[in-house]
Formats: sequence, C-alpha cells, structure tokens
Amino acid sequence: MSEQEAESWIAPHPPEGGACYRALIWLLDAVSEQFFSSCKHKRAELVARMRDAGTRGARGALALAQQELHNFNRDIRQQAFAFRTRAQSVRIGALRAALQADGGVLGYRLGDAAAEVWVELTDEIGVDEHVRQWKEALPDAAWSPESIIEQVSEQDARDMQRAAHAAGAEDAVGEMANVPTYCHTSVLLQEAVEMMGAAEGKVMVDATLGGGGHSERLLQAGASVWGIDQDPMARAAARQRLASYGEKLHVLAGNFRDVKTLLHSHGVDAVDGVLADLGISSPQVDTAERGFSFMAEGPLDMRMNPSLPRSAADIVNEADETELADILWQYGEERAARAIARRIVQQREHGRITTTTQLARIINSVLPRKGRQHPATRSFQALRIAVNDELGALDDLLSGGLSLLRSGGRMAIITFHSLEDRKVKHFFERVTKPEIDRPEWAQPRPNPEYTARSVTRKPVVPGEAELTANPRSRSAKLRVIEKL
Ligand SMILES: C[S@@+](CC[C@H](N)C(=O)[O-])C[C@H]1O[C@@H](n2cnc3c(N)ncnc32)[C@H](O)[C@@H]1O
Repeated sequence: MSEQEAESWIAPHPPEGGACYRALIWLLDAVSEQFFSSCKHKRAELVARMRDAGTRGARGALALAQQELHNFNRDIRQQAFAFRTRAQSVRIGALRAALQADGGVLGYRLGDAAAEVWVELTDEIGVDEHVRQWKEALPDAAWSPESIIEQVSEQDARDMQRAAHAAGAEDAVGEMANVPTYCHTSVLLQEAVEMMGAAEGKVMVDATLGGGGHSERLLQAGASVWGIDQDPMARAAARQRLASYGEKLHVLAGNFRDVKTLLHSHGVDAVDGVLADLGISSPQVDTAERGFSFMAEGPLDMRMNPSLPRSAADIVNEADETELADILWQYGEERAARAIARRIVQQREHGRITTTTQLARIINSVLPRKGRQHPATRSFQALRIAVNDELGALDDLLSGGLSLLRSGGRMAIITFHSLEDRKVKHFFERVTKPEIDRPEWAQPRPNPEYTARSVTRKPVVPGEAELTANPRSRSAKLRVIEKL
C-alpha cells in the first residue's frame, strides 16, 4: 500500500487549544524484526543524545539531534505505510470506529498495518492513554509495543486538517458522514431560554450542548454561547447545525463539572447565564452501539464520553456484589437491587456479560415485568449514572456554574429524575436562603452561602402540548436561580 492509498479522515472540529500530538502505531506481524529493533535502537540513541546535549546546555548539538529525530520519525512514517498484514484492512477497520469515537482525535491516516493519528488532549487523559485505548479496539492484534509520539503545535494540527481537506474527497466525506442525523427534540425550550434572558452582548454557557437546540435559541436572541458536551457525536452535530453563527458559538469538549476551568482557560471569568439540560439525548439512547438502551442489542457501554475508562460492562463484570447492589439501589432506587446483583454475579461465572439485551434478560429473570415499565429501566438508569458519575458532575456544575455567574446572571437546570432534581432543589435552597436556623441556636444566623434568589418558586414542567408532542419530556423539571 502506498502512502497515497492510505485512508484518511479528519474530525469535523479544529483543535481547541489543548496540547496536540501525532502518534504512529503499527502491527508487529507486518514488520520485520530487523526494522523493529533498528527503529528502537536508533530512537533510543537520538533521545540519549538530546538528553546529553540538554544536560550540557549544548544548544547546537541539541538542535541537531532534534532535527535528526524529526527526520527519522518522518522516514519511519513513510515506511510504516508500506507495511502489509496478512489480515489486511479487516483489522484496521475496527480501529477506524474507535478513532472516530475518540473526541480528542483530530484526524488520522490508516495504512494496511499502521495508523498515524493526530490527537488533542482535551480530557484529563494523556497521550499514552489515548494510544492504549485505540490499541484496545483491536485486542487480538499484535501491536508493536513501540509507538512514535511527537508533540505538534496547534498550528501544525490546523495545517494538517487544511491539507487533508485540500487533498480531497475522502476527508470531506469522512467529516460529513461522521455527523449522523441527530434528531433530538429540545425539552422546555421556550421556558428555559426565556428565563435565561439571552440578548445581544450577553454571554451564555450551554453546559449540555447536545444537538444545539437550546443554544440555537440563545444565539437567535443575540447572545454568544459557550457550548460544552462530553460526547463528540453531539459536538459534531451542534457544530454543523449552528455553523452559521460563526464566532458567536464556541464549542468546548469536556465535562461540565469543569465548567469554571474550561471557561477560564479561554479567558472567560464571568458569564450571564448557565443552562443545563441534563441526562442523555435521544440519539444517544437510540444508537444501539452506545449501549444505553435495553430495547436494542448493543455493547454494554453507556459512556457519554467514549474515552472514559470504565464502561457499564466493566462495572457489571468487575464490581463485587455489594458494590453492584449499592449502585442499583442508590442510583436506580431499585428495590430488588440485592437480588439483581446476586443474579449478575452468578451469571458472570458462565462468561462475561457484554450486551444490553443479555443484561436486560438477567434482570428480567429476577424481576418479571409488571405494569408499563420494563423491569430493567431502573437498573439501566443506575448503571448510566455510575458510568458517567452524573451526580458528582452535577454537584460540581452547580457550584462551578454559580460562581461563574455575574450579578443578575441566571442558572437554569432541567432535570429528568428525582435524584437529579433533589440535588438541584437542595442546592438552590441552600444558596437562596438569607438566613439559616438550627434548633440549638437562639436565633437564625446569616447564611454565608446566600448568593442568589429563586426565579422559579416551583419547578416549571412541560405543558400539555409539549407532553403530547414529545412524551420523553414527561419527567422534565426546570428550576432557575439568579445571582444577587
Ligand atoms: C439532553 S441532551 C441536551 C440536548 C440539548 N439541550 C438540545 O436541545 O439539543 C444532554 C447532553 O448533555 C451531555 N452531557 C451530559 N452530561 C454531561 C457532562 N457531565 N458534561 C458534558 N456534557 C454532558 C450529553 O452528552 C448530551 O449530549
């Protein structure tokens, strides 16, 4: 396979300011022993020379060794794309899906037996961890333990994307094809957006960008929006939908628990609104491969951010019985938590539980169906919350979001189940009470956390028309506060 024949793809988003790397990984069975060991020795020698020159402060020698390493890496890359495997591209195909699902990947080239991947570290995981995860997508492949990883500038990463675009059809198609149709009906759209007070000159954070429905309304009202989502599929869809708003929309990859740091790292210290429409989107539930739904056969995954280290399958197969029961009870309020956990542990003895429907059947065997709700509903909710640490992230969003608001700024949160709503309600009560009282105190004392006033005395819920048009909105509750 020549370099020109390699399949390439670029992510539909440019680098966003994180550290960028270029990594070359390859399959061992395509590479001669000699190539592998000479590569290893040469690189070790060059790195040792650089270290030595650095220690001596010999700048000229250091620059020379760096240049040699650069050239050497370039030669290796050229050779790697000439490698062939016996298994050919069948194997590499599985890697393609993993790379496109990794939100940090900016682009890649796949050869017959090697992959060159450009990645930006937008999550808390390092480049080695990304590489490890890609390799895991082909667990049976004989990956070379060596990989060539070089840091590149953000400009280089942008140039790579531009060059790939210019190089032709394959990449542009990759970009478009990778934004599947994203059908999500936004919940409490009118109500939430009106209460946010979006207008020209206002700066809003949409902490759950999703398909961009709420953000679109905020942008239409003239505000600029910082949209956060941990799911690359959602970010790609929102970018595409909202492309016409240009610089008014900034899409950030990350978890909303880091809202403050994310905004600070882009020079934003205060905003006029923070909106969160919690939970998962319809495309996430409806895409069987994401593993959120017991209605469709799919891998037991449930990660909103595909680079999270622990999937639902990892929990189901590795947590001990007590931990499993606690998860099902605390996050699903599942009364049969213990019995389900026990049955899962028994079933694991016959082999790993890997699919959504397999788990649903196990739950069903403990808890036969009664009424309209599927017996697996609560357990699936519990696992999803555990996998994504949804309640922990919500705690951080509430405190981080409030501290980002300037005076008069508003925070609006839409919840979909009682565990979330309880958290929001208690937090809002805590920060909107001027005084606190305790039985042991003679009189109430000023509340040091008093920083906001309540805008919605009772939660706002969908009206008849919305419930009819979108039954998924039935458990939604919107609560809003305003910073004093
Ligand atoms: C209900 S959807 C939002 C839909 C959006 N408001 C719209 O109108 O299109 C929730 C989105 O929030 C994202 N999300 C959930 N928890 C998150 C978290 N902790 N950090 C970042 N994104 C999160 C999910 O990936 C999903 O795309």
